[in-house]
Amino acid sequence: MTLERTLILVKPDGVRRNLIGEVIRRVETKGYNVVALKMVQADRSILAAHYAEHEGKPFYEPLVEFMMSGPVVAIIAEGNRVIEGFRKLAGVTDPTVAEPGTIRGDLARDQGTKVVQNIVHGSDSAESAAREIGIWFATDVKGLA
Ligand code: RTP
Ligand code: MG
Repeated sequence: MTLERTLILVKPDGVRRNLIGEVIRRVETKGYNVVALKMVQADRSILAAHYAEHEGKPFYEPLVEFMMSGPVVAIIAEGNRVIEGFRKLAGVTDPTVAEPGTIRGDLARDQGTKVVQNIVHGSDSAESAAREIGIWFATDVKGLA
């Protein structure tokens, strides 16, 4: 058994385009369980924590600005191998080359913006998932990380 939890974000582009339900539908129809969910207006401090690995990269500041440009929906999904499974559902980072059938491949494209806008975030490892769940859900739900 590899029961896991992962942190999913519907990014501001996904929220603006009314794709919250579509993302959740794909997670649920795959068979994963949504165990926590909330809409958040992210501030710079939460994004600095979330994207610490990218600090100093050329796309860091545009990424933070984009992620503060509107609300995001933070979701904890649970299931066996959900971390890897959601990354497959999301597709690769660049929506132009993300496979059709994936969230990014079906629902996003290059908009010519300073940073890639690609609808969703998903944790990339068990360590990232635990860290990110702690960041986004620290204050409300005990025992979810
Ligand atoms: P995420 O963390 O959002 O699930 O995406 P990811 O693992 O596929 O990509 P990552 O390398 O962690 O990058 C985080 C987000 O930063 C933006 N990005 N833009 N060259 C670029 O313009 C560039 N590289 C990354 C994307 O929004 C990416 O999802
Ligand atoms: Mg990442």
